[in-house]
Amino acid sequence: MIGFPLFPEVASTVATGVDRLYFFLTGVTGFFTVLIFLFIFYFAVRYRRRPDRVAEQLNPDAEHKSIGLEIAWSVIPFMITLVMFTWGSSLYMANSRVPDQAMDVYVVGRQWMWKIQHPNGRREINELHVPVGQPVKLTMASQDVIHSFFIPAFRVKQDVVPGRYVTMWFQPTRAGEYHLFCAEYCGTYHSGMIGRVVVMEPEDFQNWLGGVTGESPAQTGEKLFSELNCVDCHATGARQRCPQLGGLYGSDVLLEDGSKAKFDENYIRESIINPNAKIVKGYPPVMPTYRGQVSEEQILHLIAYIRSLTPEKQQ
Ligand code: CUA
Repeated sequence: MIGFPLFPEVASTVATGVDRLYFFLTGVTGFFTVLIFLFIFYFAVRYRRRPDRVAEQLNPDAEHKSIGLEIAWSVIPFMITLVMFTWGSSLYMANSRVPDQAMDVYVVGRQWMWKIQHPNGRREINELHVPVGQPVKLTMASQDVIHSFFIPAFRVKQDVVPGRYVTMWFQPTRAGEYHLFCAEYCGTYHSGMIGRVVVMEPEDFQNWLGGVTGESPAQTGEKLFSELNCVDCHATGARQRCPQLGGLYGSDVLLEDGSKAKFDENYIRESIINPNAKIVKGYPPVMPTYRGQVSEEQILHLIAYIRSLTPEKQQ
């Protein structure tokens, strides 16, 4: 775009809803800012100190109270903030739900780049290619410090925090190229941690994706699963000492202490790094930690593999 854009393009399904709320908040706060400043200037002039007024101002009996006014300026702002809260939280809830059939893309942030991997194994750095009209779910992790994945044209931004997985989704509505930023100060070259999101027509995307087919994250994960000997304990058969992992993703597992845990990305990650944190009921705490032996990317691959053991519709 030529010139200096004041406002990002509207290129995702949630963008218009987010903009409306944003304009409302800006309108309300702008209105009250102007109103308050007008009163400040008016009162400053109207009630300025004058020789004949001093005595009256110092007299405490000159104070006037108006219950009506007090109630009005408490209740009206309260109502307005309630509107903001209800509107904001319902929009947040609506936008949090990932649509079914979302395409899975894995993202790892590190100083100072975004590493991205598609379900068929195609990798890219600081670029994200997606088809128009298709919901895309990003599963993201950080290898070092906090980064933030920000696509202004889609009105989505998500902090990517080391030590846990976060997800974010969007559905692009227009083909084109859009900015991708890191929106969290992450060190010397934070400002260089930028890239682009390329939204393509579905056929073009298929061509782009089909050009290179590597191993899918789930396939890499499956290999790792046997290389790291996870398979020894987690497989069925005589050697099975640990829970089988098929069909578990997205469900609740019963733990040794009687509580339940949701079997999701963060649970899997924690069980790899700190296996004794949440022991599944009926199993001995025999699993060793893999802390330091697997990178964030490898954990993502293992998760992709473990997810693939659960049929789509159960997830
Ligand atoms: Cu990564 Cu700023």
